[in-house]
Amino acid sequence: MKNNSFLRLTGIFVFGVVLYAACTIPFYFESPSMYYKTGMDRLMLRSGKIFGIITTVLLLFQVVLASRLQVLNQVFTAKKLFQYHRTNGLILFVSAMIHPILILGADHFVFFPFESRYWPEFIGVFLLMVLLPFVLLSVWQKKLGLNYNTWKLFHKTLAPVILILLFIHAMNVSRSFESGWPFYLLSAAGLIMVFLFARRALP
Ligand code: HEM
Ligand code: HEM
Repeated sequence: MKNNSFLRLTGIFVFGVVLYAACTIPFYFESPSMYYKTGMDRLMLRSGKIFGIITTVLLLFQVVLASRLQVLNQVFTAKKLFQYHRTNGLILFVSAMIHPILILGADHFVFFPFESRYWPEFIGVFLLMVLLPFVLLSVWQKKLGLNYNTWKLFHKTLAPVILILLFIHAMNVSRSFESGWPFYLLSAAGLIMVFLFARRALP
């Protein structure tokens, strides 16, 4: 097997392991919101949490795919990485919408009261409201006749905002990420994001 294809397979394997490991968090670090759920409600809340985590991991990988790291370009080529970036953007767009539908479904679609104690949930709502136009404008940039540099500036400016909203939501909406391994792993991911964005921002 040629060296590059071995490295490519290793890269895809690492991505698979990270995604799988993250999806086990709701099982091994169960949050109290699960204690009172039974039957279909329990299944919906659990699946809703898993879709939230899948969306989170895919969002983190979006920044890695667009990071222009030399080693990734050598192994995958820049063209392939942006194809993955585009496809991954569409997949996480769908999982980001399934997440709140399942979470609200577990409570029979009773929406949260407009009270300050639900601020982490409303950060999730705001995150989704930013993510939707962000993805649609990227997919339809040409169709909408949007100037590439204008779109790129919009894209580069909103991407870190989306990641910051994500960390605030995930760290505060669920007890699973309040402490222990989930907290350390999400914080480590946060530091990697800061490094990748700083690297792109610095001359
Ligand atoms: C891109 C958008 C979103 C992402 C990436 C996201 C991500 C997450 C993550 C990682 C969790 C923790 C899962 C766990 O507890 O194991 C979570 C939980 C939660 N999210 Fe989101 N979320 C998003 C949008 C939303 C929206 C729009 C809502 C509200 C309608 C929402 C409501 C919740 C709730 C209520 C929980 C806590 C579930 C529980 O423990 O009871 N999220 N979200
Ligand atoms: C869904 C979440 C997404 C996130 C978080 C994200 C994030 C990013 C980031 C951080 C960059 C690098 C910006 C820089 O140069 O510093 C980037 C570049 C790019 N993204 Fe996205 N992106 C997302 C979705 C998409 C989608 C859906 C598409 C296409 C349909 C797309 C197309 C591109 C392209 C073409 C570039 C390269 C721009 C250039 O350097 O000329 N992105 N993205």
